[in-house]
Amino acid sequence: MEIVTELRSVTKRYRRGDELVNALHDVSFTLGASEMVALVGPSGCGKSTTLNLVAGVDRPDEGQVIVCGTDLAAAGEPALVQARRHCIGIIFQAFHLMPHLTVAENVALPLALDGRRDPARVDDLLRRVGLEHRRSHFPAELSGGEQQRTAVARALVHRPAVVLADEPTGSLDSASGAAVLQLMDELRRQEGSALLLATHDESLATLADRVIRLRDGGIEAVL
Ligand SMILES: Nc1ncnc2c1ncn2[C@@H]1O[C@H](COP(=O)(O)OP(=O)(O)O)[C@@H](O)[C@H]1O
Ligand SMILES: [Mg+2]
Repeated sequence: MEIVTELRSVTKRYRRGDELVNALHDVSFTLGASEMVALVGPSGCGKSTTLNLVAGVDRPDEGQVIVCGTDLAAAGEPALVQARRHCIGIIFQAFHLMPHLTVAENVALPLALDGRRDPARVDDLLRRVGLEHRRSHFPAELSGGEQQRTAVARALVHRPAVVLADEPTGSLDSASGAAVLQLMDELRRQEGSALLLATHDESLATLADRVIRLRDGGIEAVL
């Protein structure tokens, strides 16, 4: 299987006052193309830190973070931007839609940031997440589930090899959360994208091909 993300002996520390917090310590794992891996564990175990490193918004103190063939730990800013634009799609707990853009404009954003337009692709994704009829609405006019379905379409529109989802159901009731997760999995399978899902709720990890359990910044178990 082609590897789309690999962490090699990654350590990440944060300074908190006088204290150094080991957010991640010697973490290694791979994510294969089209694979779904769930990162689980209690609050503070290092899930978001891991996703931020793969997203290229943070850099490790030690080790390598290889995403689509680029070591983000060593990459210069242009290579980091390239990896973010082409290789990664992100789904956040709090949706993070642009409030002044319509649903269709939000979905088109990753293409626009790359200087591209593809209205047919945007329409196709809106249809597949069931939001065609909401395309000209603004995020504030949508339910939480609809906002997250918009974010799912946005995360996939530019055909990223890797989709990152950090507690994507954390702001939703359990029924719409389960529906969004199901949809996310179905779409990323159709698209052939890998999914790295961070959740403190192990019951949400049942769709995953592998479950990596973190504890205090280290891998406790791979299930
Ligand atoms: N920017 C930061 N500054 C200081 N400490 C941080 C920062 N981000 C995360 N941490 C600490 O790193 C550890 C892991 O955090 P995080 O990755 O957010 O965990 P999780 O997402 O699993 O809840 C925690 O102890 C957290 O307090
Ligand atoms: Mg977190």
